[in-house]
Amino acid sequence: MALLFLFWCTLFCFAVDSFSISSLVSKELYHSIFLHKDDNACPAKDFYTYESFIKASKCFPRFGNTGSLATRKREIAAFLAQISHETTGGWATAPDGPFAWGLCFKEEVSPQSEYCDSTNKQWPCYPGKSYKGRGPIQLSWNYNYGPAGKALGFDGLKNPDSVSNNSLIAFKTAFWFWMTENKPKPSCHSVMVGRYVPTKEDLAANRTAGFGLVTNIINGGLECGIPTDGRVADRIGFFQRYASTFNVDTGPNLDCQYQKPY
Ligand SMILES: *[C@@H]1O[C@H](CO)[C@@H](O)[C@H](O)[C@H]1NC(C)=O
Ligand SMILES: *[C@@H]1O[C@H](CO)[C@@H](O)[C@H](O)[C@H]1NC(C)=O
Repeated sequence: MALLFLFWCTLFCFAVDSFSISSLVSKELYHSIFLHKDDNACPAKDFYTYESFIKASKCFPRFGNTGSLATRKREIAAFLAQISHETTGGWATAPDGPFAWGLCFKEEVSPQSEYCDSTNKQWPCYPGKSYKGRGPIQLSWNYNYGPAGKALGFDGLKNPDSVSNNSLIAFKTAFWFWMTENKPKPSCHSVMVGRYVPTKEDLAANRTAGFGLVTNIINGGLECGIPTDGRVADRIGFFQRYASTFNVDTGPNLDCQYQKPY
């Protein structure tokens, strides 16, 4: 089965070569956004290459390719902002500011646990493996490594390390997380391209579209429904910097302090 998926993905990635987000994110732009990712101070030095970013994006042809030009740029800016916060090496007085230090880390530094939900029988943890945050989106938990690996053609439960030692797989997991609906959560993609349709429960929970809802999808349990904390502000800071780089507005609902988490 895994082989079949791998085959499918390989074929698919070649098939969609006609569209590339490199038309909106040039190598120069990528390096101006992630100004310090290859510094000696960054543990992910030389890992997150532009080539892997572009190649991985081709497995998800709707990413950055849905809606108007402004919508496409806003989605890309939001994605780059969220992966920046997840991997940031920045601090308040950092050179070039706190929002110039995305993609500095490839794995979680002091994980609190192995992130194994042993009640999940569909994606059982492999003995001795840790499902800590890895890669641009800091994929974590067995119930994310399992389905990500299945979709992308690697054994996420047995070989979670693949996400931190193969930059193509690393970027693919980030795009996979962004593009995949995981009910009751919508996909981050659908939210940023205006295709999200809130349910009655969503409306009662103030979960209306915007960058803040994407934060809710990614880590709302810890960051949303409370007065805006540093993590949410950091995500917004990256987004504002990148939106301005792409010369596009951020849209409404940047934070999630009045949203109930899922
Ligand atoms: C990368 O991860 C795979 C899967 O866990 C592992 O087999 C391999 O030894 C790792 N390679 C390096 C260079 O760490
Ligand atoms: C929805 O937002 C309003 C403020 O705009 C707030 O008073 C209310 O408590 C929020 N509802 C929920 C369920 O968080």
